[in-house]
Amino acid sequence: MKITVAPGDGIGPEIMDVVLDVFRAARVPLEFDLVAMGKDVALAGDRTGISPEARASVEETGVLFKGPMETPKGGGHKSVNVTARKLWGAFANKRVYRMLPGVPSPLGLTELDLTMVRENIEDTYGAVEHMQTHDVAQCRRFITRPGSEQVHRYTFEMAARKGARRVTCAHKANIMKLTDGLFLETFYEVAKEYPHLKADDVIVDALAMKLVTEPNSFDVIVMPNFQGDILTDLAAGLVGGLAYAPSANIGESVCIFEAVHGTAPDIVGMDKANPTALLLSGTMMLRHLELVEHAQLIEGALERTLDQMNHREDISEFVSDFRTSIFRYLMLEQLRAGRVDRRRTDVQAPRLPRRSEPRMLVSPTPGATSLRGVDVFLESPLTPDAVAHQLTGLSDELRLTMISNRGTQVWPTGSTFTDCVNHYRVRFEGDRAVSQQVLVTLLAQVAECFPLCSAEWLREVDGKPAYSLAQGQA
Ligand code: NAI
Repeated sequence: MKITVAPGDGIGPEIMDVVLDVFRAARVPLEFDLVAMGKDVALAGDRTGISPEARASVEETGVLFKGPMETPKGGGHKSVNVTARKLWGAFANKRVYRMLPGVPSPLGLTELDLTMVRENIEDTYGAVEHMQTHDVAQCRRFITRPGSEQVHRYTFEMAARKGARRVTCAHKANIMKLTDGLFLETFYEVAKEYPHLKADDVIVDALAMKLVTEPNSFDVIVMPNFQGDILTDLAAGLVGGLAYAPSANIGESVCIFEAVHGTAPDIVGMDKANPTALLLSGTMMLRHLELVEHAQLIEGALERTLDQMNHREDISEFVSDFRTSIFRYLMLEQLRAGRVDRRRTDVQAPRLPRRSEPRMLVSPTPGATSLRGVDVFLESPLTPDAVAHQLTGLSDELRLTMISNRGTQVWPTGSTFTDCVNHYRVRFEGDRAVSQQVLVTLLAQVAECFPLCSAEWLREVDGKPAYSLAQGQA
C-alpha cells in the first residue's frame, strides 16, 4: 500500500525522518511516495505550494502524511496546509487529546480523553477578503447547510464508534445568528439520527473557560473552523503543549494526517524538535488504514519512551534519546508480540471514487427563498443624515430603512457617540418580494450618488427574513 509523504518546512524534515525510521523499524507495510509541498514550491512559482507530482500522487493514493508548512503573515502565498485540506475536500479536522505518561499537564491533569472536530473548509477560512475602501477590509464568512451536515454527521459517527457519551457543539450563535445559527441548527438536526448520544451545545467563550476548569466533563466537541483553530490549541496546552497534539483531516476521498503544530522556526536544526505529535498523527493514519496492530505497537513503545524521559527539564538531547529509546522498545515489543512484520501485509489501499468533475453538495430539503431588498455598501465621508438625504426616494418599490456603520445603526436613529468610518451599509427593503432587476436598477441609481463597495441581496428563507439586524436596530 502506497501513501504520499510531504516532509514540509522548518522542523518538518527532521521530525518526518524520525517518524519514518520508526515506521520502518515497526515493519509498517507501507510504501512512501515522497513529494515536494510547501514554501519552496510556492517560492519557485507555484503559489499553491503543491507541486504537480504531489497533486498527482495524493489523488492516486488518497492518503497524505505531511509535516508542517510555513505561511507568511500579512502577504505572500496562501497557507499550503489550508489549500490542501480544501482542495481535496478533507472537511473534518479530528484532534485527539490524551495525557501521555511522563508528560506533565500545566494544570496538573492526570487524565483526559477529549476529541475535538473542527470544520475544515468553510468559515473565515474561506479567506475571501477584500479592501472595501482604503480604511476598511472585509472578510466574508461562509457557513453552508451541506458543509455543516457533513462535519456533524462525521462527528456523530465517530463519537458512536468511540463509545462517547456526549457530543457538544461549540458556537457563537447568540451573536452570529445566521452563520453560527445554521451550524447549530444543523447539529441538532443530525443529532436526531443518534438518539443514544447526548447532544448539547455551549457558547465558545464559555467553552474556553470550561476547558480549563472542567476539561473532563467534555467528550467530543465539534466547532466551526476559526473557533476550532483557537480552541484546539488551548486543548493542546492541557496535555503538555503542541508537541503532543496529533490530527487527522478526514475527507470522503482524501485524508491528510499532520501534527497540530507549525514549522517551529525558532528551533530548526537544533535537535530540539519533538516528533511525538507527528508520530501520533502517523498512528492515527495507521488505524485509518486498518494497520491497528502496528499503531498499537508504536503507541506502546512511544508511551514507554516518554515515561522513561519523565520530567526531563533539558530537552536538547531529545531527538537522539527519542530515536535510541524508541527503537529499543520497538525491538522488545516486536520480539514479545512476534512476527509483526508478517501480519496484515495483505492490506489493500482503499479504492478512491474517481470523479470527472467536482461534486455538488445540495441540501436534502431545499427551502423557498424570495428577494426582499438589498444592503448596499458604499464609501462616503459624509454624515449618516447627509447620506440618507441623497438616497431617499430613489425607488417606488424599495424604501431606505436603515443605515449602519461598522454594524451599528446610525440612521434613522443612532448616537452621536458612535464613531464612524468612511464605509456605510445602506439598507433598502420592499413591502413585498421584488425582482433581481429592481435591485440592479437601484444599485445603478445609488452608484450615481456614491462609490459602491459591494452589495448583498436581502432574502426571505422559508417565509422568514434571513438577514441580520444592525446593532441598535429596533
Ligand atoms: P509553531 O507551532 O510552529 O510554534 C509555536 C511554539 O511551539 C514555538 O516555540 C515552537 O518552537 C514550539 N514547537 C512547535 N512544535 C514543536 C515541536 N514539535 N517540538 C518542540 N517545540 C515545538 O507555531 P508558529 O510559530 O505560530 O508558526 C510557525 C509557522 O508554522 C508559521 O508559518 C505558521 O503559519 C505555520 N503553521 C503551520 C501549520 C501546519 O502546517 N499545519 C500549523 C500551524 C502553524
